Amino acid sequence: MSKQTRVQIFSSREEMENRVDLNGAERIKAACKTLCIARNENGFYALDDECPHQGASLAKGFCNNEGEIICPWHHHPFNVKTGKGRGEYVDVYPLEITDKGVFVLLPQSAWDLFSDLF
Ligand code: FES
Repeated sequence: MSKQTRVQIFSSREEMENRVDLNGAERIKAACKTLCIARNENGFYALDDECPHQGASLAKGFCNNEGEIICPWHHHPFNVKTGKGRGEYVDVYPLEITDKGVFVLLPQSAWDLFSDLF
């Protein structure tokens, strides 16, 4: 299993609830990644923000009732849990909601792996 880096993205669950509207999404920088934090009635999800079709920000889209986020440009859907679209996909990342804040678990970068050697 690959190593992961834990990055704080909100100071609390309450902050996340205030910033991410139900059936909406928010664009967040986490380490070197730009993420889309999506929210539907089942919870919150972290995905890569860039749509693989032509690069729109998925965070400017919306969540439907089928567990998908809909890209704002050409309306391609992506499952918020798996990142699967219809012939395309985006990476998804686990969220940890704790009493110390909200964290996303990102794959450790090549630089991080290299620096572990020293
Ligand atoms: S840029 Fe997302 S569907 Fe075209």
